[in-house]
Amino acid sequence: MIEIYRKKAKHYDLISRLYSERPQRLRAVQALGLRAGDTVIDLGCGTGLNFPLIEEVIGADGRIVGVDLSDAMLARARDRIARHGWRNIRLVQADAVDFDFPTGVSGVLSTYALSQMPECAQIIAHGAAALANGGRWVVLDRKIPDAIPSWLARLGTATVRPFAAIDEWITRRPWESIRAAMQEEMSELSWTELSFGSAFLAVGSPGTDNSDALPDKSQLGEPRLTAGRAQ
Ligand SMILES: C[S@@+](CC[C@H](N)C(=O)[O-])C[C@H]1O[C@@H](n2cnc3c(N)ncnc32)[C@H](O)[C@@H]1O
Repeated sequence: MIEIYRKKAKHYDLISRLYSERPQRLRAVQALGLRAGDTVIDLGCGTGLNFPLIEEVIGADGRIVGVDLSDAMLARARDRIARHGWRNIRLVQADAVDFDFPTGVSGVLSTYALSQMPECAQIIAHGAAALANGGRWVVLDRKIPDAIPSWLARLGTATVRPFAAIDEWITRRPWESIRAAMQEEMSELSWTELSFGSAFLAVGSPGTDNSDALPDKSQLGEPRLTAGRAQ
């Protein structure tokens, strides 16, 4: 993974723009229901593309902890932080499964990263334990649309094949493990399929006593599990 992202880091932001990921990212950050002064963990933060969106809400009194395995991606994140002059972001180079989560955080976010982590269920449990009352766990990631044959999925992902272990990912079907682990750990979970089922947004809350105090609670939908489809 470290080698893969040493090759990808330089052009990562450009490719993200080509894939028009920003609206989905924005949606994921909004789903955290953050307020000024909040603390957010961004797991697999990469080059820090979520940071401006989070900073806009939490402001200088909030905190971001960005965790990533890749030295090259974190170097880009460090450049971004320096360019913006942010002083409230800590970067940690670590495998997310070994990361020692602080407790009482307002949100845990992972965009296009958790499905690359084989121990995603364990990581979801660690993240859930780190959340303050009313905090939210938000996962935005890719999946294979339901009901398409695996040969077609392989064809569809051919363009990224040189960079990622796509075959392993298709076979492992990590979105299913993520969904099961979120259901296990969260008392409230909304699951929305995006881009014709090629991505999903999962928003979970452990559903503790003061969750009503959070803004935009309606985004979480019905208790236990709701599912939706959006473009
Ligand atoms: C596709 S990039 C997504 C980056 C960023 N979240 C974004 O939305 O642009 C996936 C990131 O996950 C990181 N990653 C993969 N496996 C990881 C692991 N086990 N622990 C921490 N980071 C990991 C990679 O290094 C890479 O930066």
